[in-house]
Amino acid sequence: MASQVLRTLAEVKAWAADLRRAGHRLALVPTMGFLHEGHLSLMREGRKRADVVATSIFVNPAQFGPKEDLSRYPRDLEGDLSKCASAGVDVVFVPEAGAMYPPGYETYVEVTEVSKGLCGDRRPGHFRGVATIVTQLLSLFRPDVALFGEKDYQQLQVIKALNRDLHLGVEILGMPTVRELDGLAMSSRNAYLSAEERKRALALSIGLGTAQSLYRSGSTEASALIEAVRRELRAADLREDYVELVDAERLTPLSSVQPGQPARLLVAAFCGTTRLIDNQPIGG
Ligand code: PAF
Repeated sequence: MASQVLRTLAEVKAWAADLRRAGHRLALVPTMGFLHEGHLSLMREGRKRADVVATSIFVNPAQFGPKEDLSRYPRDLEGDLSKCASAGVDVVFVPEAGAMYPPGYETYVEVTEVSKGLCGDRRPGHFRGVATIVTQLLSLFRPDVALFGEKDYQQLQVIKALNRDLHLGVEILGMPTVRELDGLAMSSRNAYLSAEERKRALALSIGLGTAQSLYRSGSTEASALIEAVRRELRAADLREDYVELVDAERLTPLSSVQPGQPARLLVAAFCGTTRLIDNQPIGG
């Protein structure tokens, strides 16, 4: 069955209020569209955890820097709506930018600590834009649970922090990265890669896998784990943006992995002009 499409804030508010009155449990999957298996896995998980699933498709201008790819960001609303229907999504919210940021809009959400470092340093203002739109969506829908992919690992920590600090009371669920058969993390931005770049892009997941094996064979120093990823990036001629080992919750840099300490190895690199990210848990 086709998903119901809502386009205005008034429609969402009325729909969500009816749902709450009827005592339903709601799962929300916010997206920027151009949906892939990663998004669909979030929607299917949402179905298991709630009796109603909503998704939003909104390419949020506030999270793109002036030199970033807002106008080129891939879009396919028709394809997305049929994917939502096949994943059992009940409602898809597709707002205009002017609905989320009308004239006179002046409220932005800043998560100060976990937004630091990693993508936060390389993409100034990005997490402020993400935190602002996610806060708007959680406030509008008031879902019981909201699902996000772990591929955007820092984003997930930012969203957990704003949900905690602003007392939104939503269960924020991070789901494992969905990968292509060869290991490449699924991302809407993979659509930018040429066939040759697509092969080189594998260096991110291969590097993380090599670091994971090194850790399992007893190597706990950040420098060795990071170098394993860097070696792959160099061999594939990718330009590193960062490779860092951090505490899995606070995202502060670690010099080594201590027994029982959850750590995360994160990488961002340019493949041609396309910036790709990936990450992997280490230890814990
Ligand atoms: O991960 C994304 O697609 C976006 O950053 C999100 C969470 C939908 C906010 O625009």
